[in-house]
Amino acid sequence: MRRSAYVRAELPRKEESVKNKIQLMASARFLAPSAVLETGVKKGQQTILDQPSAPKTGGAETALASPSPLISERAESLAGEAVLPGDKSISHRALIFGALAVGETWVRGLLEGDDVMATAGALREYGVELESDGPGKWRIWGVGVGGFAEPARPLALGNAGTAVRLLMGVAAGHGFTSFFTGDDSLLSRPMKRVADPLTRMGAVITARSACRLPLALTGASDLLPISYTLPVASAQVKSAILLAGLAAPGETSVIEPAPSRDHSERMLRHFGAEVRLEEEAAGGRKITLVGQPELSAAELSVPADISSAAFPLAAALLVPGSRILLKNVGINPLRCGLLECAREMGGDIEILERRELSGEPVADIAVSAGKLRAIDVPAARAPSMIDEYPILAILAACAEGTSRMRGLGELRHKESDRFTAIVDGLEACGASVVAEQDDLLITGTGAPPPGGAHIASRLDHRIAMAFLVLGMVSRDGVTIDDGTPIATSFPGFVELMNNLGGQIKDV
Ligand code: S3P
Repeated sequence: MRRSAYVRAELPRKEESVKNKIQLMASARFLAPSAVLETGVKKGQQTILDQPSAPKTGGAETALASPSPLISERAESLAGEAVLPGDKSISHRALIFGALAVGETWVRGLLEGDDVMATAGALREYGVELESDGPGKWRIWGVGVGGFAEPARPLALGNAGTAVRLLMGVAAGHGFTSFFTGDDSLLSRPMKRVADPLTRMGAVITARSACRLPLALTGASDLLPISYTLPVASAQVKSAILLAGLAAPGETSVIEPAPSRDHSERMLRHFGAEVRLEEEAAGGRKITLVGQPELSAAELSVPADISSAAFPLAAALLVPGSRILLKNVGINPLRCGLLECAREMGGDIEILERRELSGEPVADIAVSAGKLRAIDVPAARAPSMIDEYPILAILAACAEGTSRMRGLGELRHKESDRFTAIVDGLEACGASVVAEQDDLLITGTGAPPPGGAHIASRLDHRIAMAFLVLGMVSRDGVTIDDGTPIATSFPGFVELMNNLGGQIKDV
């Protein structure tokens, strides 16, 4: 049964603050919706506005949180058990698929970081009722495929690339216009990769130059099903097409050059959709969705995020004498590239108590410190560890020998240009690093680089956390200019690391 508006007005403080944040961001110097519409676009077209400079918006981090510098100093051995926050990719999808299902979906273990709360805020703008019912426990009253209402305000999605790309897919199947914006990091990220297939399906997209946000997307309730070959492996783009495919009759297919995380496919099946998978000769995959299903409400438990577990895991490999246990971590094979690399480097990692949680494999992971050696990471491994290169680079800088990481072009399009952020940050910490086109070569002596640097976190949570881990083993520690982006994916990071034995403090 639906809760009354009165009950919803009594949301926990955290949710209210997200609502306020979203409203503030929406009203902040955003390109006026009418200005976008005045350009007059035709159906099934993309219009890129000639407006080279990014309009200033009140982004999640920039408008509300002042920078919070942190210093990480050399730690004694780490010990203990860590219960980590929920998986970010699965959490976004749990809210979105719950909203598209018919009936009441319960989610446990949801990540309540800023990115996922941005998705929750956008879904409310689409008229979906959802509420928190205790830590990590959420209830969503799904409205069914095609059941969203026109949002009255721009959808301000902070730092969350996954939120904007997946919601663009959903918006494509609704015959009204949605306006998307975000923080300075999100405004700089490429959206053409999503706009291209959605336009082919019949959406009309008007964006700033080079297809960046802010953008306006006018959807249609009669989308065309397509068969689309992704130019680069991207789970976000794949998911956007599948989400749009829900609203199209017939079958929508995505062919990916290499397998990317398959949380959407697993969750679609969990909610009752028909999804087929075919392996392609060249190592890729074809995913086919039967359109216009009725998704049924479901119960879901979200495992801990292996991309967050990567930071305490790396710290425990590096800080001498450490042994920690990471509980209930998602070990989807398409996310486990870092575990493979760490093992090849000689890292002592045990996978314990393998089990399944709402269609996703999970386990506890025991990690012990030891000497690491250099490795050569093939480009083909990138999709399974695309978010883990910043922390892998830290491991490589502390290992003995020259590691080569191949085919990292996609790192330039993340929350920051991570390719450059890794090179600049490691150099500042005294490590030896060379960039050769899209490859990184990092040479370590077997001892950590001296550190002592002040690192710009560039609105990028994973750059911030990676260099704080380096500080835990460096002689002179490491300072970062701003720890606030960490809340996008890993609220409580500093406390968790310090409980294990870290020495991370406000500056
Ligand atoms: C994600 C996919 C990846 C990843 C991002 C989350 C997802 O991005 O980097 O953090 O949830 O689908 P790409 O699809 O751009 O590779």
